[in-house]
Amino acid sequence: MNKTELTQLISKNFDYYQTGHVADYIPALAKVDPKQLGMAIYDLQENHLIEAGDANVRFAVESMSKVPVLLLAIKDNGIDHVFQKINTEPTGFAFNSIMNMEINHRKHPMNPFVNAGAIATTSLINGKNAEEKFDRILAFMKEICDDPAITLNEEIYQSESRTGDINRSLAYYMKGNQMIEGDVPAILDTYFKQCSVNVTAVGIAKLAAVLANKGIAPWNGQRIVSEKSATIVKSIMTIAGLYDESGEFSVHVGVPAKSGVGGGLLAAVPNRYGMGVFSPALDSFGNSAAGIQLLTDVIQELDADIF
Ligand code: DON
Repeated sequence: MNKTELTQLISKNFDYYQTGHVADYIPALAKVDPKQLGMAIYDLQENHLIEAGDANVRFAVESMSKVPVLLLAIKDNGIDHVFQKINTEPTGFAFNSIMNMEINHRKHPMNPFVNAGAIATTSLINGKNAEEKFDRILAFMKEICDDPAITLNEEIYQSESRTGDINRSLAYYMKGNQMIEGDVPAILDTYFKQCSVNVTAVGIAKLAAVLANKGIAPWNGQRIVSEKSATIVKSIMTIAGLYDESGEFSVHVGVPAKSGVGGGLLAAVPNRYGMGVFSPALDSFGNSAAGIQLLTDVIQELDADIF
């Protein structure tokens, strides 16, 4: 696929933003212009990246941060330790539901991509205080997105923190049930910040390319994460990356992907492509409305369904 073809698919799918709404439960996200659609594709075989539309617009990473933070938690603690604390099962419940901890006998968060599991994952990041933990997360995001300009969006962070009471309840519930250790306000502060960093579709495509390329950055040949952790993360993206739309997405699109309420989508096609999409209007599950339509067309065009 070349830039012209990608531009045509963006035009074809642009109007789907009208079928969704920007996230309004976080005031700073409610202000984002819904009329945006952009995509970047890192082609591993050609070792080059194409981008079109709003692929360089900065937007809040939100739940896509759950991918790099899980990778960093595995680097810090090892695979076994992380998955003793957090399961790897789909839930069928909304991303912020307390049921995500209650439906199995083990009393663990069901997976690292629902909020409970993500907060538990953040609690595992090494660092002597919240500031050092967030600095490590930010440095890792810059490295894996090959984007030194990633910064904290202070307005989104304040908004997340002010409106984050459901996340607080999930975290205190986990602490009270010995599912997490540490200082809850400090863990939440790091979680709110990790959701509030500004990324672009280009940077997300590079992150996805590292996952698709078994943990090695294709732009310089350096290993960033282990092959095993890249594989595990892609598996969890397949079962839980798009919340309770994950099953439908696997059936109709068929690639490991992760969404965020900032309107981002990250998709990793093993050994072939890393993809980043941005369009802020969300469908009823909280996933980018036009983004999913565009990704569906691109995957079909590239014959990239992994199943
Ligand atoms: O925890 C929250 O509510 C948000 N900061 C992140 C949630 C999110 O992106 C869910 N996504 N689809």
